[in-house]
Amino acid sequence: MGSLFSSPGFDPKDIPNLAGKRIVVTGGNSGIGYHTVKHLVHHGATVWMACRNARKAEDAKRRLDEYFATLGLRLGHDGVGEVKLLACDLSTPAGAKAAAAELMSKENRLDILSMKWGSFVFTLTLLPLLSKTSLEQNSDVRIVNLSSETHRLFVPSNLQFKSIEDFNVKYGDSAMNDLTRYATSKLATVLFTAELQRVLDQQNIPILTTCLHPGVVVTGMRTAFFAAIWGVIATLFWMSADEGSFTSLFAATSPEIRSHPGPFRGRYMVPYGKPADTTRLGEDKQLARDLWVLSERLANQTSKP
Ligand SMILES: NC(=O)c1ccc[n+]([C@@H]2O[C@H](COP(=O)([O-])OP(=O)(O)OC[C@H]3O[C@@H](n4cnc5c(N)ncnc54)[C@H](OP(=O)(O)O)[C@@H]3O)[C@@H](O)[C@H]2O)c1
Repeated sequence: MGSLFSSPGFDPKDIPNLAGKRIVVTGGNSGIGYHTVKHLVHHGATVWMACRNARKAEDAKRRLDEYFATLGLRLGHDGVGEVKLLACDLSTPAGAKAAAAELMSKENRLDILSMKWGSFVFTLTLLPLLSKTSLEQNSDVRIVNLSSETHRLFVPSNLQFKSIEDFNVKYGDSAMNDLTRYATSKLATVLFTAELQRVLDQQNIPILTTCLHPGVVVTGMRTAFFAAIWGVIATLFWMSADEGSFTSLFAATSPEIRSHPGPFRGRYMVPYGKPADTTRLGEDKQLARDLWVLSERLANQTSKP
């Protein structure tokens, strides 16, 4: 069911055949990530579901099995792709680095990196494999990062990324501080996406990166944030988790983005796949460069024994 005031402008049926593609979806065991995996696999891709909790990952794979069975289909058969599990705790740079290294020991190509749960170190570590794939004939490599409209509000105006300490600012324990921390991470996603695209362009690597707001989506995360008003209101006014995956799927697979990349490359979009302006801070190239330099430093630090 769609939310009361919105109607999807993108249909997952339009996703092209993804047979042969290798894709990683972080946070794929629930919410928007789960449905992203579902649609990608339905179109033939092999998807690595990168999850921090093995039990939840197995459970998600079982639910996918059941879903395809209701369609008379089977994972790995009938044109449906495969789901593979990657243990992946992105809460520390070392964990992100280890998960990326594990993946690179098992795959020799990577076509799409779809980050429902973000880690710049994870992306940077996978970049050589993504870049190598992007230089192969007929490849179409993309990186898709989930941001949020909250990046427009609640971000400290004195935000900076000059030192590692700037990544570890203590915001205190209150709902407002949680929101500030969350919004800041989502602004950082916008900045990282833009700078990543600039770096790739400078090196003539044809990867397309985008970031996006998925919509206001009924998922576990929302339940935690807005438990008090959870219920009928949510299902009437918010998107389903399935619909919440549509803009990510558009960003990851739409031929339109490859044929007319101008409004999309390194940029932010909103449902369903509409390019949108970001904020003054979101457009700040120096802030984006500082964030990039710090992220690279973290990625390199954790590579040392
Ligand atoms: N829902 C919305 O309305 C909305 C709006 C704007 C943006 N977003 C963004 O959309 C993305 C997906 O959110 P969602 O609503 O689908 O939330 P969700 O249902 O809570 O899913 C979040 C996923 O991320 C995983 N995750 C969390 N921390 C992780 C870590 N340290 N390492 C690896 N995986 C981790 C979770 O794993 P566990 O199951 O183990 O916790 C879960 O699979 C998030 O980036 C969110 O900020 C959502």
